[in-house]
Amino acid sequence: MTRRPLVPDAVARLRPYEPGRTEQEIREAYGLSQVIKLASNESALGPSPAVEAAVQNSLKNVHRYPSAGQSKLRAMLAEHFRVKPENLVLGSGSESIMACIIRAFLLDDDEAITSDNTFIGFNVLIASRGVLTHRVPMTPDYRFDLQGIADRINERTKIIYVANPNNPTGTYITANEFTRFMERVPEHVLVIWDEAYFEYAQDLPDLPDSMRYRLDNVITLRTFSKAYGMAGFRLGYGLAHENLIRHIRKVRLPFEPSVLALEGGVAALEDQEHMRRGLAMNQTEKVRVMQGLRELGFEPVRSAGNFLMVPCDTANAMELLLEQMVQRGIIVRGLKAFGLPNAFRVTIGTPNENTAFLNTLSEVLSTTDGLGS
Ligand SMILES: Cc1ncc(COP(=O)(O)O)c(C=O)c1O
Repeated sequence: MTRRPLVPDAVARLRPYEPGRTEQEIREAYGLSQVIKLASNESALGPSPAVEAAVQNSLKNVHRYPSAGQSKLRAMLAEHFRVKPENLVLGSGSESIMACIIRAFLLDDDEAITSDNTFIGFNVLIASRGVLTHRVPMTPDYRFDLQGIADRINERTKIIYVANPNNPTGTYITANEFTRFMERVPEHVLVIWDEAYFEYAQDLPDLPDSMRYRLDNVITLRTFSKAYGMAGFRLGYGLAHENLIRHIRKVRLPFEPSVLALEGGVAALEDQEHMRRGLAMNQTEKVRVMQGLRELGFEPVRSAGNFLMVPCDTANAMELLLEQMVQRGIIVRGLKAFGLPNAFRVTIGTPNENTAFLNTLSEVLSTTDGLGS
């Protein structure tokens, strides 16, 4: 009897996720008293204080399963966005909903299309499903080439993934571009429109709010991980036509998200003022960090998110720079895994964190030659 393989080829080919060193490890390795992490696009401000109170209060309920689907948060989000609860699905992070979409809709010979240089999470999920995925190069100004993506659509295309604004480039698709693109997408193709950084960009007059269009084949993904400062809770949501949501809900884990995440999410959503404060701080600080980087000889890419992508001369220069920064207690993200080996990404932190980042970068540049862009 021939032995069947233990794992499907698509999974065998994946490389395990390699987390960066923890702050504790870096502190110990370099004898540092303080480490500043600006590597994962987390909120600089953190969650509303109301979240802590709500979570404390809900601890008394953690021996119970969360309500499977009829949560207060789902109803509140439906009201907030003027949709029906049937248009909404909650999950342990928007990435969990991405996983459900892939599970619910893809056949083995379906195909997917996305761009180079976008969110790794989607790429891992689609690779593990083993379907053929086309990746279209970005435009020279680091934007999704939507017309190039539309050109690749064929009768097997099932899913198109777009992150708007995009991680790690921070660039965004305009409303006109979105409309022209959707005119070319047939109804049988599902578009995952990932708006993880939507709140940071929402005041841009030409940013499309995908939810307003109510297109039957678009699934909008949003999250509490970024502007609401709740990445550690794992809480995200998807919005789409109720038929799509119905199928997604069939394959999700019934008790996601946790009781604590659901209660925290209600408190976070109620405190819009806190969230707005975070957006304002991000905006002011992003301009300052951008300016500081320019003064140091870099040309960061204009970003609609809470982070900046910074191209460097060469991949070697970038690696050396990051190592020197880590040794001084500043962690930023090299973008080799995103297909951008010359660039790094820095999350916009608190004013003090950003000052430390710029000062440290300046110090590193003055002790090493030729690291700029
Ligand atoms: C574009 C994009 N989408 C989704 C996510 C994941 O969000 P969540 O924490 O809701 O799973 C991230 C996280 O960095 C992201 O950058």
